Amino acid sequence: MSGDGDSTLRLVGVDELGDSQVTVVSDTPHGDLAVGISDGRPFAVSNRCRHLFASLGKGEVTDDGRLRCPAHSALYDVISGKMQVGPQGVFRPLAGPVKATVGSRPLKVYPVEIRDDAIWLVR
Ligand code: FES
Repeated sequence: MSGDGDSTLRLVGVDELGDSQVTVVSDTPHGDLAVGISDGRPFAVSNRCRHLFASLGKGEVTDDGRLRCPAHSALYDVISGKMQVGPQGVFRPLAGPVKATVGSRPLKVYPVEIRDDAIWLVR
């Protein structure tokens, strides 16, 4: 991370994202963020899954552009921050919709842009 005046903060180089297309960037003004690229667009969201707080930056961006939690595969829309598909496996909700206690609060979403082959936080 490095600053550029007061308006933006470099988070990560695009070529540092790897195959998962997302990573954890620590110690930003907003704490740890999951930062990546979805459908060619950069995103930055709060890093902790709304289910059991797994690090979303250690997950992956799916082919359809959603952020998958590495623990139980919940899927998030990185534009709205909403959990669109709840936890899977033994944590799968009994009814279809994401339960009120799981994923009811969206991730926080922060404005970012791509410049000089890096993702920058716009402050
Ligand atoms: S911790 Fe993310 S789906 Fe369980």
